[in-house]
Amino acid sequence: MEINEEDIIITVTDQNGNVHKLASPTDMGLSLKDICKIYELPMEAVCGGMAMCATCHCYILSDTVLPEKSDLEEALLSELFNSNVSSRLACQIQLTKIMNGLSIEIAREL
Ligand code: FES
Repeated sequence: MEINEEDIIITVTDQNGNVHKLASPTDMGLSLKDICKIYELPMEAVCGGMAMCATCHCYILSDTVLPEKSDLEEALLSELFNSNVSSRLACQIQLTKIMNGLSIEIAREL
C-alpha cells in the first residue's frame, strides 16, 4: 500500500508477539479491522464487520481516545471470556486522525 504524508501510524501486536507498524489513511472510511486485513495480519473478522462474531477482538494498549462502544459492541464483548476494560471490536472503530499513535494487541482465539 502506498504511504501518504497524511496517514496515521498504528502499532499492532499480533498473537505471536510480533509488532507491526501500519500506515493508514483516514479519508477512506476504513475501520481498524479493515487496515489489519489490508496488511494481512492474523485477524479473522469472520462476519466482515457486522459486530456479530467478535473475531476482531483486540486490546487497546495506548491511551488514545476512541469513540464510545455501541450497545451491540458492549454486549458482544461481555460474552467473551478474555475481554477486559481495554477490549474493543476492531471492526467498530472507524479510523480518524486523532488515532495517530494508536497501539493495539490482537486477542488470542480461545
Ligand atoms: S468482524 Fe465480526 S465482530 Fe468485528
